[in-house]
Amino acid sequence: MVKPTFRLATAADSYEIAVMSRYLVEVGLRGWSWPPERVAKAIRARSTCVVVAEVHGHLVGFGIMEFGDVQAHLSLLAVKPAFHRCGIGRALLDWLEESALAAGITTVTLELRANNYGARSFYRLVGFEEGAYIPGYYRGIETALRMSRDIRRHVPEVSGKQ
Ligand SMILES: CC(C)(COP(=O)(O)OP(=O)(O)OC[C@H]1O[C@@H](n2cnc3c(N)ncnc32)[C@H](O)[C@@H]1OP(=O)(O)O)[C@@H](O)C(=O)NCCC(=O)NCCS
Repeated sequence: MVKPTFRLATAADSYEIAVMSRYLVEVGLRGWSWPPERVAKAIRARSTCVVVAEVHGHLVGFGIMEFGDVQAHLSLLAVKPAFHRCGIGRALLDWLEESALAAGITTVTLELRANNYGARSFYRLVGFEEGAYIPGYYRGIETALRMSRDIRRHVPEVSGKQ
């Protein structure tokens, strides 16, 4: 059974995260929109949280979330194929959402390639709702789908009239 561990990324993880982004998320698109320098900048930034998953000391997944005042944006989330369906994507997202919640954020948004049906199923399962399609979002060619989730915990109201 896979026993992943999770931690905040450090500068030393930048290259490997960028490579995962290129081959797991940006696969088939021209260019490299998250090269190591951009990942390193995200790791340094106070308004961004970068989390990694490791198995036996090797990176197997990561997530990058940018925090605004009331909204956070999930920029990237990926797990290496050999470790899919082990709960790692969900655990990475849980970490990022807990951080967002603690920062007073209420909504998480993301965009993904509209034809990425596996990831769409994953995001729906964890509570995201599908929103608008954005034609040409990726390199002016591919359509994106925007998704969002209200991360506030809904505490049942107490009818405490006495
Ligand atoms: C999307 C992604 C991050 C999910 O990571 P993961 O670690 O495999 O996800 P989990 O194991 O936490 O999945 C939780 C649940 O989501 C659903 N799910 C996950 N991947 C799914 C898929 N490809 N198809 C259908 N449902 C899926 C399942 O219900 C799963 O629970 P189960 O395995 O018990 O049935 C992973 O598939 C990935 O890295 N894809 C490539 C990169 C990518 O597309 N990223 C998203 C855009 S940035």
